[in-house]
Amino acid sequence: MTKPVLYLMVCGAGPAGHSARMVELAQADGWEVWCLATPAAIEHFLDLGELEALTGHPVRTGHQRAGQPALPKATAVIVAPATYNTINKWAAGIADTYVLTQLAELTGLGLPIAVLPFVNTALAANRVFQRSVAELRESGVSVLFGSGGFVPHPPRTGGRAMDSYPWHSALEAVKRANSG
Ligand SMILES: Cc1cc2nc3c(=O)[nH]c(=O)nc-3n(C[C@H](O)[C@H](O)[C@H](O)COP(=O)(O)O)c2cc1C
Repeated sequence: MTKPVLYLMVCGAGPAGHSARMVELAQADGWEVWCLATPAAIEHFLDLGELEALTGHPVRTGHQRAGQPALPKATAVIVAPATYNTINKWAAGIADTYVLTQLAELTGLGLPIAVLPFVNTALAANRVFQRSVAELRESGVSVLFGSGGFVPHPPRTGGRAMDSYPWHSALEAVKRANSG
């Protein structure tokens, strides 16, 4: 039987450096994982070799190039860590990274999408962020923000929030959506 396909979309925030954890959790649960990453994730955080070795696929940062395998059709999507930047741009309809272009299309297709933000309390307090979270939820996206999902940390304490980042809640959300 073919495995369900999970796109893991990684943005430029601290947990990106630990996204192998998400891959391993999903693989243990029977998913085939393909990673897509923003330029900020690649520049500051990701170990591409580690993710490619784990998933067996190249990490996609742009449209398919000659010689690259095509992305299989996704069963579900996890955006983790999701930055303030990507959440706001996505909710505003901006599609200027490959991740945002894919998210625009996949949201329109109604695919199960779970978003696990990583923002501090200062970023989270912005009305624009709260509006974006509400907008995405209204679009049917599962934004795991607040109790049961990601709870923001005070500014400059993000390093300590890494171990408790609730990767598992994103997996549970797409499983719920996929079985429902
Ligand atoms: C070391 C470092 C840590 C960062 N941490 C965060 C963070 O925790 N949350 C966040 O939303 N942005 C964080 N940023 C800022 C984002 O990387 C920046 O807004 C970037 O434009 C995001 O691009 P993306 O959304 O396309 O990944 C951090 C940047 C750096 C260099």
